[in-house]
Amino acid sequence: MSKSTLIKIASLILMVVSFIAYIAGASAFPIASENLLPWSAWFLIAVIVNIIVWSNVVKLLTFSLAVIWFYAFVAGLVPESSTAVNLTELDWSDPDAVAEQGALVFNGKGQCAACHTVDTSAPPGRCPDLTDIGVNAATRVPGMDAKSYLIESMYQPANFLVPGYGKIMPEVWKAPINLSKLEIEAVIAYLQSLGGEIDPTPFDEPIDRADVGTTAEALPPLLTGDSELGKKVFVDAACISCHAVTGIESPAAGETNEDFEVVTAPDLSEIAAFNDMRYLEESILLPAAQIVSGYGAVTVRAKGTTFQGTLVSQDTEKIVVRTKAADGTEEEHTILLTEIDDEPIEELTNLQARGYFTLTLTPTDAEAPVTGEIVSETDETVTLKVGDENKSFSKTDVKSQMTVIIFDGDEIVGDHVSGTMDDDEIVLMVDGSEEMFDTFDLEEATMTRARGKKLLVTSPMPENFPIILSVADMTNLLSFLRTLTGATAEAVPEEAAEVPAE
Ligand code: HEC
Ligand code: HEC
Repeated sequence: MSKSTLIKIASLILMVVSFIAYIAGASAFPIASENLLPWSAWFLIAVIVNIIVWSNVVKLLTFSLAVIWFYAFVAGLVPESSTAVNLTELDWSDPDAVAEQGALVFNGKGQCAACHTVDTSAPPGRCPDLTDIGVNAATRVPGMDAKSYLIESMYQPANFLVPGYGKIMPEVWKAPINLSKLEIEAVIAYLQSLGGEIDPTPFDEPIDRADVGTTAEALPPLLTGDSELGKKVFVDAACISCHAVTGIESPAAGETNEDFEVVTAPDLSEIAAFNDMRYLEESILLPAAQIVSGYGAVTVRAKGTTFQGTLVSQDTEKIVVRTKAADGTEEEHTILLTEIDDEPIEELTNLQARGYFTLTLTPTDAEAPVTGEIVSETDETVTLKVGDENKSFSKTDVKSQMTVIIFDGDEIVGDHVSGTMDDDEIVLMVDGSEEMFDTFDLEEATMTRARGKKLLVTSPMPENFPIILSVADMTNLLSFLRTLTGATAEAVPEEAAEVPAE
């Protein structure tokens, strides 16, 4: 066989194989761990070579395959572009087809896929993975069925936050995402199809779209700023030290800022694609108001050890805290919520804001202390989940307790009757009888109104920008942030090169 025949046959084989692999949706041709060109590119190369080396009959075959490939390629692009088409009708006689339309909205106009994964093997992000949301939806809020929960998640996502996640999810029926009722219905069908059953029952929107239209108009035009000047503020105010933005050079690694400690912070290149201006403004004015999941700073004491670091994740049973040693090595610790130490609480105000999630207190009319998870709180009362029941307690009718530590190390806890360390004598009610302690014999005496477990998550982002930045700087900065929709990413060549060719 001559050399040219070999080349001819090899290129024919390459064309047929890459064609089949492309149609079958095989993943790109791998060599070791690198994914080489996608099959569509191999196919195109083979087509060109075949057209050059072969004569008529095979040229015709090549051409026909290329035409089929072209149609398949265009069809492959359709799911992305068809989401731009507004849904006008849903055919509920075929719920699976509705779910498919919902999947298009999910991956397209709804922007859901920008935040959520549907793949448990994906690295945990700042938003919950939605695999099995079809079943999980029924378990989130007691007494709420799956469909009602999903409806609420779409219209009022802040009403119930999945534990460990911040108030990040936008109200997808509002600008800029603007999903119509039909699109939301389809998305819900899609979410239900993920592990659950599609429920086609019609529902009323729990919101008034007309109402929002007028309030949105009533807002003053916030952005009269200059985004070019804002970009300068972003760099000068050192936002760039912590936050990466595509197209702006970050300071060299390891370079520290004299005003604050540089920490890992969210990439802001696409921040305006999913968040409105109020959120961006609030992020700067009150960084702690909504902390991006995975970036909060936390100090927690468990079994006598103090862990200070980043709250990586949190669920109803445990937290994961990443600590960094002085030499830079990082370590992740999984801590059960039950292992977190009880701390004395003197003031029963703003318990939740101060991070308490369980409370132990003794009501004045009771003998034994009550312990429960904090469900809600007002200025006067606190409601605890005790066993399966919610019970409210008055914050003022609570016995004060005191722990005294005697010099020989004994620790005694009792209801406080009188006295402090400044007096000669402290009187406690211990197990129903009064006991007197000479303060001279005491090492310590701490008064508590209650005890509780505390997990206070704070934002590592500095709080003093509102003071440092002038009103004009702030306006310009916000105008700049508004341009960060990710669209700029495509304009920057070195970034574009990192996007896989598929
Ligand atoms: C900017 C990021 C973002 C976008 C865009 C977004 N979400 Fe979310 N979503 C979140 C976050 C964060 C949570 C968790 C906090 C909460 O419960 O609101 C969440 C929660 C949810 C939940 C509840 C999950 C659970 O496990 O209980 C559902 C369902 C959901 N989103 C669906 C969607 C759908 C559908 C879309 C698109 C129409 C969407 N999200 C768009 C961030 C986002
Ligand atoms: C010391 C590091 C640091 C600096 C400096 C800093 N930030 Fe942040 N920023 C963070 C961290 C950490 C978070 C995530 C925790 C949170 O939500 O508060 C954050 C959150 C944000 C968010 C919300 C991000 C999201 O994904 O929702 C915005 C917007 C933001 N910062 C803007 C700015 C701007 C603008 C500046 C400059 C004026 C700035 N930051 C300076 C650390 C920093």
